[in-house]
Amino acid sequence: MSLKIAVPKTTTLHEKRVAASPETVKKLTALGCEVRIESGAGENAAMTDDMFKEAGAKIVKSAAEACKGAQIVLSVQVPSDDEIGLMDKGTLLVCQMNPYNNAALMKKLASAGIDSFVMELVPRITRAQAMDVLSSQANLAGYKAVLDAAEHFGRAFPMMMTAAGTVPPAKVFIMGAGVAGLQAIATAKRLGAVVSATDVRPAAKEQVQSLGGSFVAIEDEEFKEAETAGGYAKEMSAAYKKKQAALVEEHIAKQDIVITTALIPGRPAPELVTEAMVKSMKPGSVIVDLAVEQGGNVASSEAGKVVTKHGVTIVGHKNVPSRLAASAGALYAKNLLNLLTLLIKDGKLEIDWEDDIIKGVAVTKSGAIIHPQFADKKEPAKKAPAKKAAAKKTAAKKKAANDTEDKESK
Ligand code: NAI
Repeated sequence: MSLKIAVPKTTTLHEKRVAASPETVKKLTALGCEVRIESGAGENAAMTDDMFKEAGAKIVKSAAEACKGAQIVLSVQVPSDDEIGLMDKGTLLVCQMNPYNNAALMKKLASAGIDSFVMELVPRITRAQAMDVLSSQANLAGYKAVLDAAEHFGRAFPMMMTAAGTVPPAKVFIMGAGVAGLQAIATAKRLGAVVSATDVRPAAKEQVQSLGGSFVAIEDEEFKEAETAGGYAKEMSAAYKKKQAALVEEHIAKQDIVITTALIPGRPAPELVTEAMVKSMKPGSVIVDLAVEQGGNVASSEAGKVVTKHGVTIVGHKNVPSRLAASAGALYAKNLLNLLTLLIKDGKLEIDWEDDIIKGVAVTKSGAIIHPQFADKKEPAKKAPAKKAAAKKTAAKKKAANDTEDKESK
């Protein structure tokens, strides 16, 4: 009997991606799996039932039919309670979970006896690079952020010398030069902008410069120590943040576009652009806050909204990778396939629980939360961003941010 893999249609609001592509279906079928896709699952990501069928999938009418007897369920987002109810005890769910804000869901999955692998927790080791959804999705988000900025900017990006006069190049400032930020730098450069960027990790300096951007940062002793062994930023001290804010304040007033991407895993996003900084920018400037769903890097950004404050347009789209669903979905599906190839041997599920990648992603198993970071914790990270948002942002913004954690049905 072949291994059954279910791909239900997403029920998460504003989610267009799908957890499989014709390419991954073909490869999973070749590995001896039966892939059942709920009809219409790929319709918002330019993947039709016929394309999946041709690749070897079985198209089924409902999520219930897809999940019945499936050993693995693949999903982009977390399942709703109804969807959890469709899965048999012992099913392996592989999805994204926003793990630092979803302790309640982890408990639910554990008590339903669903084993779960969480894609955001893939360790950042060379062997796991092809499974890294944070990278594959952030890369596209960084690109899309520049296009979103261009859409709202009433001027051109490149310098243009015409008979009627010269159009100056746009000045673009990228805050946070990780995966999303570096792609934003490359994209803005391609469009002809003058690009600068900041980050707290020293390794970012060379990367920014190699893409043709100038680097703006306080390079003190704390900066030299700001990178964790996992390659992420640490939360900086209040003193560093103060110095950083003074430097940024001066720089930002001269910029046309600001794109913020700064995150610290498991903590609220640092606030880098204050209301006063927004006010200092020229009318017609644009800010895109890619961290808006983690509490935001910009004081005035609102999750799921485009707002204008002091003549500056502030873009706070939710789920930016889903705005490029065909590309983002295809890469996400490939990330899943690369993880699954570790688990499937001769058409059977054989999980090596001692593998570092498995230890990294496995959150629930046989009725318990087994991941050391989440076992026995009572939603600590969820309270932190909510508290921060309440203190510094409007009630409307807080509501919008909380909405992103809620699972809604179409
Ligand atoms: P992220 O999404 O957690 O954060 C985005 C950026 O914001 C980071 O560069 C971070 O340093 C920066 N940031 C945080 N606080 C800041 C502040 N106060 N001011 C300015 N910037 C701030 O990071 P992401 O994009 O996931 O990448 C982190 C690093 O991991 C990068 O060096 C990347 O190259 C590396 N990486 C390694 C991989 C591997 O080895 N397999 C895979 C992907 C990324």
